[in-house]
Amino acid sequence: MSVKTCLMFGGGGMAGGWIGHWINHFRDRIKIIGLVDVNEEILEKQADLLGLGKDQLFTSTEEAVDKVRADFAGVATPPQFHASQTISALEAGMPVICEKPIAGTIEDARAMVDTANRTGLPVSIIQNYRYARDKQEVRRIVDEGRLGRLQHVIGRYACDYRKHCSWGKEWRHTMDYALLFEGSIHHMDMLRFLSAGDCETLTGFGWNPEWSSFKHLSSGMYLMKMNNGSHCFYEGNSTAAGIINCWHKEYYRLELEKGTVEIAGGKDITIHRMDKQVEQYEAPEIPWEGHNHLFDEFLNWIDGDKPADTRIQENIKSFAMILAAMDSGTDGAVRKIADYL
Ligand SMILES: NC(=O)c1ccc[n+]([C@@H]2O[C@H](COP(=O)([O-])OP(=O)(O)OC[C@H]3O[C@@H](n4cnc5c(N)ncnc54)[C@H](O)[C@@H]3O)[C@@H](O)[C@H]2O)c1
Repeated sequence: MSVKTCLMFGGGGMAGGWIGHWINHFRDRIKIIGLVDVNEEILEKQADLLGLGKDQLFTSTEEAVDKVRADFAGVATPPQFHASQTISALEAGMPVICEKPIAGTIEDARAMVDTANRTGLPVSIIQNYRYARDKQEVRRIVDEGRLGRLQHVIGRYACDYRKHCSWGKEWRHTMDYALLFEGSIHHMDMLRFLSAGDCETLTGFGWNPEWSSFKHLSSGMYLMKMNNGSHCFYEGNSTAAGIINCWHKEYYRLELEKGTVEIAGGKDITIHRMDKQVEQYEAPEIPWEGHNHLFDEFLNWIDGDKPADTRIQENIKSFAMILAAMDSGTDGAVRKIADYL
């Protein structure tokens, strides 16, 4: 396994988290040779940590892509910059691993998919929540038919972000559709993953309670028909004040032919069956959790292994669901996902 060089877009926030994961777990597989950030203080701080010289630090995407030839590029900047950075890197011959959501608009996302298809280079999108012990076990229960056929999945996300700036960065409280773009993208992707189906149609509503800390909607409820006969329902609430199912502790319930499965984060699986005691057990361990799974999978893909399950051509199906939710939320009309792809 050789060391892969990386041109990294973003140095603070989640990008700082990536760098931490790489130092702790991928020191012998990833070496950052160029770093791009609009914040010079962050550039200097990370340069010290990574041992980068001034000629390896950039505030401009164009200059970085012009000067640095790396084995791949990492993109962990805010969503509206993903398209220009990913496309520039692909055009320069670098495979890309990029944070969710794919982009800020469907046009940008389609342009990214087109460039990935034309260049034939790998583009993996981070959907870290799939790679948790409980989620992987639930998917196995569905795939192996342990409780028969799947009827429907309920997903609930509820965080108390009633204070301004409590959701990490101010931009999440001022942007349009923060719930959908920054939150629900994870949950819509999870509903696809747990149901083993792709969404065909979606309808629902979004709203912003008067006491919300968000400029735009903080809450919504959406109903989905999947292409394998199952159905999904999603409750998203960034203004929760009572029962919390925040990050890593979202609640999912699957109604199957011979029982009900519940998870709410961590490793515990609860199975209810009629006339039987409730069964609770710990899901088996998995080799890599969250982001680390995606980094490992992406490096193996570049080396010729199988493409990532969350490659951009697949993950645009999750992104299209939040676009459909955005549109349906305005009038409650049913939207076809195919119209967005
Ligand atoms: N997968 C997850 O669990 C998860 C969690 C949080 C955030 N994210 C995603 O990570 C991405 C970044 O979010 P964040 O909270 O870290 O944002 P952030 O505002 O902290 O920005 C991250 C870094 O990018 C830099 N930056 C901003 N604009 C830039 C530009 N045009 N070019 C280069 N650098 C730029 C910032 O200075 C900062 O260092 C988003 O897509 C977000 O949705 C994912």
